[in-house]
Amino acid sequence: MSDTTYAKGLEGVIAGESRICKVDGEQGRLYYFGYRIKDLAANATFEEVTYLLLYGELPTVDQLIDFSDRMRKSRDLSPPILQMIKAFPRESHPMELLQSTINFLSGYIDHKIEHSPTCNCRQTLHQIAQIPGVVAAFYRFKNGLDYIPPRDDLSHGANFLWQLKGEEPDPEDGKIMDKCLILHAEHSFNASTFTARVVASTLSTCYCSISAAIGSLFGSLHGGANEKVMAMVEDIDTMDNVRPWLETALEEKRKVMGMGHRVYKAKDPRAIIMEDFLRTLSRKYGETRNLDILKEVEKVFREKMEEKGKPIYPNVDFFSGAVYSLLGIPSNLFTPVFAIARASGWLSHILEQRSDNRIFRPKALYTGDVELPWPVLEERS
Ligand SMILES: CC(C)(COP(=O)(O)OP(=O)(O)OC[C@H]1O[C@@H](n2cnc3c(N)ncnc32)[C@H](O)[C@@H]1OP(=O)(O)O)[C@@H](O)C(=O)NCCC(=O)NCCS
Repeated sequence: MSDTTYAKGLEGVIAGESRICKVDGEQGRLYYFGYRIKDLAANATFEEVTYLLLYGELPTVDQLIDFSDRMRKSRDLSPPILQMIKAFPRESHPMELLQSTINFLSGYIDHKIEHSPTCNCRQTLHQIAQIPGVVAAFYRFKNGLDYIPPRDDLSHGANFLWQLKGEEPDPEDGKIMDKCLILHAEHSFNASTFTARVVASTLSTCYCSISAAIGSLFGSLHGGANEKVMAMVEDIDTMDNVRPWLETALEEKRKVMGMGHRVYKAKDPRAIIMEDFLRTLSRKYGETRNLDILKEVEKVFREKMEEKGKPIYPNVDFFSGAVYSLLGIPSNLFTPVFAIARASGWLSHILEQRSDNRIFRPKALYTGDVELPWPVLEERS
């Protein structure tokens, strides 16, 4: 391969084969194992989608009952994990805690096989089942509250709200939470998933692969965008301020968070569904300010970008923060919520990578010096 194949940020580069997820950026369509995101969000539970991602096919009734039961029984956190969460510095970001906890968790898994590079984590499902409890526990300890044990009669999403707030969520809110997790569960070779696959390709463990992926998701150009979107809404504050705020941002060449996508050249299909959830919840709680400001930002931003010949649309993170706020989730937990969902996709990719593995090892386009004369230490300036 010659250096002429260089593409900054690997744009347009095909880095591997995958059956898991198709992102049709031109049409604005998304599929998990061939099923449309629209149908999955309308009809499935997060547990059903997780089964699909881990086994490559939809479960039968009996398979789903058994799988959900296993996932729900794996939810509770053991005392050493709770102690670790309690001891973690309160000022740290929950993503930093989450990344550390995943590897800490692996030390407390009984099954020897789970420590080996051949483990598939399909048996214990700890990484998927326990992440919501870790996030909720960190939030509660930080606020001087006790750990709420999980409930096995609630969906993955509803149980997260329960463990976070200690109140049974309204059934519609629980359902929306579960569906938000479906929307974020998988998205092909994005930065964090690619990270998970690179680590898996060295034959490292599922735990190391997932903790690396969490580190990648933490960045504001990836998972951190929804937190930044809500900070933007707070900063804009009023409808009248949308246009001047955007004009200044664009003049200063700042990125408008929640807008744009490497792959989508149309509106992200997840943003369309997320907007529907936001409308439902805004109406229900009589709080439309965030929705109104976001819609105005979308309108003015798109207008401005089209003038420059750059059609840029909202991505999934544009509306998700406002949805989570109405579900009572504090903004520093938005990215951890993304991780709660994406753990299923990461695991799916780790398993696929291992099924036909070759270690990732791209080349760099070297732009440094060569053959420099060796300067004696004392003579260096
Ligand atoms: C998602 C994102 C990282 C994609 O990046 P990318 O494919 O590398 O695209 P680029 O950053 O090169 O953008 C291409 C052009 O559109 C502009 N652009 C893209 N997204 C923009 C945004 N959100 N606000 C302002 N301008 C944007 C860029 O300034 C660039 O203009 P230029 O060609 O004049 O330099 C980028 O759109 C972005 O930073 N968005 C905001 C963060 C976000 O919402 N992330 C969540 C993704 S799910």
